[in-house]
Amino acid sequence: MTSQILLRSLPTDLDPARLPRHVATIMDGNGRWARRRHMPRVYGHQKGVDTLKDLLRCCKDWGIAALTVYAFSTENWGRPQDEVDFLMALFEKVLDRELAEMAEEQVRIRFVGALHHLPKSLQGTIHEAMTLTANNTGVQFTVATNYGGREEIVQACRKLAQEVKAGRLQPEEIDEALINKHLYTSEMHDPDLLIRTSGESRLSNFLLWQSAYTEIYVADVMWPDFDRSAFHAALLSYQNRQRRYGKA
Ligand code: FPP
Repeated sequence: MTSQILLRSLPTDLDPARLPRHVATIMDGNGRWARRRHMPRVYGHQKGVDTLKDLLRCCKDWGIAALTVYAFSTENWGRPQDEVDFLMALFEKVLDRELAEMAEEQVRIRFVGALHHLPKSLQGTIHEAMTLTANNTGVQFTVATNYGGREEIVQACRKLAQEVKAGRLQPEEIDEALINKHLYTSEMHDPDLLIRTSGESRLSNFLLWQSAYTEIYVADVMWPDFDRSAFHAALLSYQNRQRRYGKA
């Protein structure tokens, strides 16, 4: 708690001019965190929401423009049905509960993924949140839900193939910029820093295209324990790296 209070403003050992513009996170370890406390896995997801809320506020406090989180992957439908149902209900409840405050704080909310497969009422809440905050100028908060990097690339390929089939596009005109335009994230910068918690070092189908030159940081703590001091450590590690984008 003390460190949380101390870390309200940007720690002095971080250079404000070299912060990542866009941080992406794989919020891993909620289930294990709960199990270690002899609690049901879903308790970990509830705690994970508190962590996320503080990280979002921390981005505002420290001057980080964009935060993207992996809330539900295309593979997560394979989890036990009661956990899937819990997560869908949790997303809706959290959005309902937090929307007014997030809008007040100028957060711009976006959801990316195959959203049309989500429960209808959640789709409605998502639409409301995106519409209400569309013109906000604060932190750009993106929630990847029913998101899979491969699925995203497949749907982009399909759209481009349809354009070619209809004679509106020549195959030679397809370049990186055009593919980018057909991704769910077309309006966003690529992430500068991707953080995964729980010690795992996989991308797990998250932002595959967008992470080509992203710095990856693995935090050993489970997501519910990823507090401001853990974020501070991730940013210090980021600032100690040289990003060369394949150049010498
Ligand atoms: C991964 O932990 C976490 C998730 C699949 C869900 C994370 C979702 C939230 C924190 C809620 C976010 C809410 C909104 C509205 C954005 P895990 O279950 O894979 O943990 P394990 O690896 O220990 O099993």
